[in-house]
Amino acid sequence: MTRIAVIGVGKIGEALLAGLIAGGVPPKDIAVTNPDPERGKYLQETYGVVDFTDNVQAADGADYVFLCVKPKDTLHVLNEVSDVVDNNEGDTTVISMASGITLRSLEDAVPVGTPVIRVMPNTPMLVRQGVSALASGRFVSEENLEHVCELLESVGTVVVVAETDMDAVTALSGSSPAYAFLVAEAMIDAGVSLGLTRAMSRELTIGALYGAATMLKETGREPAELRADVSSPGGTTVAAIRKLEAFGLRSAFYDATEACALRSKELGRTRTADDDS
Ligand SMILES: NC(=O)c1ccc[n+]([C@@H]2O[C@H](COP(=O)([O-])OP(=O)(O)OC[C@H]3O[C@@H](n4cnc5c(N)ncnc54)[C@H](OP(=O)(O)O)[C@@H]3O)[C@@H](O)[C@H]2O)c1
Repeated sequence: MTRIAVIGVGKIGEALLAGLIAGGVPPKDIAVTNPDPERGKYLQETYGVVDFTDNVQAADGADYVFLCVKPKDTLHVLNEVSDVVDNNEGDTTVISMASGITLRSLEDAVPVGTPVIRVMPNTPMLVRQGVSALASGRFVSEENLEHVCELLESVGTVVVVAETDMDAVTALSGSSPAYAFLVAEAMIDAGVSLGLTRAMSRELTIGALYGAATMLKETGREPAELRADVSSPGGTTVAAIRKLEAFGLRSAFYDATEACALRSKELGRTRTADDDS
């Protein structure tokens, strides 16, 4: 039996919880906490999990503690559960979903030797299509990491990265669903401008983006090849691509991801400085 605590069950915490249960973890082995008792009641009734408002009680006896609170609350909560994590029989692995909170500050908040993993999730986790990028702390065994990967695979794809890549990962997966939503928004507006109803434009846009993403995933072919396949010489698609390139779509992505990674680095520094103070 693997006992899991999910501390802070907002958007990411609930997505994780739903995925873990769908992936076969018995609800009775999952303890959740949230400050609002009404929310706890909803979680208990919806998922059949064990509900606490006390983080220490939830972490007591847990093999894995997922911290799904906001970054500003993460170290405070970790300090709160640190003793019980230390006293648990066997190793309790702490997994933080907080962006910008470094492994070093997480490890500093728990007794030496505690396995700590930092995760950058993204919102498609809500529909079990997320990407979780994991970076391991100093005391995480291979077996431990493998088990956490398996647990997170219940809500999408899992990749293991070096912590130094986390800012780039934030730009490429943590924040990038928003880029796709912006592209969808622009395509829908463009369809309306061409005279389609908004409902029709929406259906066509979502169908095309979903279909294209599925092709990329399932064929394993390069995006440039798939694009070339639908670009007849002198045809309609190349006319559109030429405009997108002329308006700097490619360089917009270089600049946007660079700005995102830089901002992630700055926020990480601020959060770490706050933690040290
Ligand atoms: N959403 C994303 O796209 C995304 C992407 C990457 C990383 N993340 C990371 O995922 C984490 C969770 O984000 P989220 O979007 O799920 O936030 P959220 O919806 O605000 O959820 C946080 C939850 O934690 C609860 N909480 C607050 N203080 C607590 C405490 N002391 N003990 C226990 N629970 C507490 C909150 O309850 P109340 O609402 O009652 O205060 C809320 O239900 C963050 O660290 C964020 O950096 C999120």
